[in-house]
Amino acid sequence: MTSPRTTLSLVDTDPAELAVDAIVIGVHSQTTEPGDGSPAAALLLASGAESIAAAFDGKLTETLALLGATGGPGEVIKLATLGTVTAPVVVAVGLGPEPAGAAPAPESLRRAAGAAVRALAGSPRVALALPLPDDADAPAALRAVAEGALLGGYRFAGYKTKPQPTRREPVAEVLVAVPDAADATAQAEVARAQAVAGAVRTSRDWVNTAPNELRPPAFADAVATAAREAGLDVEVLDEAALAAGGYGGIIAVGQGSEAPPRLVKLTYTPAGGGNGKRVALVGKGITFDTGGISIKPAQGMWEMKSDMAGAAAVGAAMLAVAALKPSVTVTGYLPMAENMPSGTSYRPGDVITMFNGKKVEVLNTDAEGRMVLADAIARACSDGTDYLFETSTLTGGQVISLGKRIAGVMGSPELCERVRLAGDATGEPAWPMPLPDDVRKGMESDVADISQVNAGMDRAGHMLQGGVFLREFVADEVAWAHIDIAGPGYHSGEPTGYLTKGGTGVPVRTLLALVDDVAANG
Ligand code: BES
Ligand code: MN
Ligand code: ZN
Repeated sequence: MTSPRTTLSLVDTDPAELAVDAIVIGVHSQTTEPGDGSPAAALLLASGAESIAAAFDGKLTETLALLGATGGPGEVIKLATLGTVTAPVVVAVGLGPEPAGAAPAPESLRRAAGAAVRALAGSPRVALALPLPDDADAPAALRAVAEGALLGGYRFAGYKTKPQPTRREPVAEVLVAVPDAADATAQAEVARAQAVAGAVRTSRDWVNTAPNELRPPAFADAVATAAREAGLDVEVLDEAALAAGGYGGIIAVGQGSEAPPRLVKLTYTPAGGGNGKRVALVGKGITFDTGGISIKPAQGMWEMKSDMAGAAAVGAAMLAVAALKPSVTVTGYLPMAENMPSGTSYRPGDVITMFNGKKVEVLNTDAEGRMVLADAIARACSDGTDYLFETSTLTGGQVISLGKRIAGVMGSPELCERVRLAGDATGEPAWPMPLPDDVRKGMESDVADISQVNAGMDRAGHMLQGGVFLREFVADEVAWAHIDIAGPGYHSGEPTGYLTKGGTGVPVRTLLALVDDVAANG
């Protein structure tokens, strides 16, 4: 199931003269002294809007204020232009307080562009005249605007059998007004944003697809087909290959379902070997997580169709890697299984021999993610890698400790810091968390090398238990980071900024920024 794509290009003609269905400008909020005049005094047009303001004869700020504009983040106010400018509609999008520096933070621009394009569904062709700096920050600002606009145009196709009269078509074409549309750096940012946003959209589509349509064999086929088209090397291990290869964790989780498990491996090899560094990306691909024998409550269980968000992000990021051609080897590993209760399910008390030979005592079949990830991580290490980034909707504990927007990062301290910086730059915040010794002690098993969760099923440090468990499967020489996206991977609230309800595509942008980081800095 693929959603229609929005296209984006640059223009450097006067925004007031653009023949588009709507033109988007930015407005800032301003604090005014108490009693200091009109609501318009609290509103400040952002740069980029000059020619539109001139066409309104100095009345634009006042008119927007009359319509209720405050410049608050995410606010969208539409105004009919009645012939003042070529576009029939001006849209003012709130950017929050005027920034201290030259331009708003990239994430403010990303969200504003997303909110504006989302609000303009029904308008086929729109232009953005948002504040873009012309200094060293220009590429990051343009990247953010382009990504936000393309993602604001995302809508999952869905399964409705009848056309919906109140549902308007997403914007088909976005023009971004820049000082010089032929500028090579600006053009490169647009090309990158198209590849990145395309990957985010693909990842959202996979997450939003109904879980009966994307069981492991179907998911593996979808990823393998897209990856082959993109020119990646593809290897798919089916249940027989997994059993023969000793992937005990993937087999155990998958054995309760009639739809058998898979491990998909995708490889991108740079021309000439690149800078010699190797990056492995590993993503949790539980196509549905019922909890298995340790079954989950019914309330909210449907959201566990998103338990493959890590694999979706890794698979989609690999497609963007194939397009962006970084100078580093990148390999994606996507372990896929459906965690179901049945007569053939794995059970609490089982001892499983994992791919690296370690024996794991199962205590809770709902801690299935770490079982499939441990095998995939061990396989990635046995193939050989320098950096390993693994991402998963692993624990409810992540949501408890960091909330729905900030991922938890555990692993090699230096790499965790690089993940935090990449998350900050891409608008996918992530925060380093520790791997305490006492948490590892709590996972000593009476019978096996390690128990899958705390031996007394104590939920204290629940997210950290996941990280501590996965560490056991990372080879000593490999720098690694585990990114828990249980919250950020799925947006269950109303649409906001460039997010729609459902899959977010997190952490596709972080993974791609990390690949660029390793390509540039080793
Ligand atoms: N897929 C869930 C984690 C999850 C929870 C993701 C909420 C997104 C939103 C995971 O497999 C799970 O069930 N984790 C358990 C772990 C426990 C059994 C150790 C949890 O979080 O309770
Ligand atoms: Mn689970
Ligand atoms: Zn799960």
